[in-house]
Amino acid sequence: MSEKEKDLSHDHAGKGEISRRQFLTYTLMGVGGFLAAGMLTPMVRFAIDPALKAAGGAGAMVAVADISEITNEPKSFNFTVKQDDAWVKGQNAVLTAWVYKEGDKYVALSPICKHFGCVVNWNTDAAHPEQFHCPCHGGRYTKDGINVPGTPPNAPLDLYEYEVKDGKLYLGNIIKRT
Ligand code: FES
Repeated sequence: MSEKEKDLSHDHAGKGEISRRQFLTYTLMGVGGFLAAGMLTPMVRFAIDPALKAAGGAGAMVAVADISEITNEPKSFNFTVKQDDAWVKGQNAVLTAWVYKEGDKYVALSPICKHFGCVVNWNTDAAHPEQFHCPCHGGRYTKDGINVPGTPPNAPLDLYEYEVKDGKLYLGNIIKRT
């Protein structure tokens, strides 16, 4: 047997089989690719998924309520927006806003708690009336959505941009506050 033939017989266990070195290389490439995909997928999703971005999507204003329904007591309104994501175009998403009137202005707050994203309720905590209350960890916000110091949230509730047209309140993009 020549030297070359010996090398070949050493590298290959048999015809059609791969060497241990090749097996290890393929295995490491596979595991590395799997881990890279696992890390990249959420990053790409956050970069392109509009459902994780502004509420109205692309600045669209959506009719939410007749202004005659809005008083100075926060009231919850649901509304539907069209959203695209990387996979489905124009799907419906139902959003909620806490809305009230303040003088001749309107305030529309996102109900999403800034601690871990639970949904806040208005005036449901007898010990702390006239506040928004988060049922998850006891977070509280004053009527204008400012987080109460000493409770878990460390930022105010987001606002929706709004406009009034033909007797209706329209809501659009989220305005983040710090
Ligand atoms: S999610 Fe609201 S207090 Fe934790």
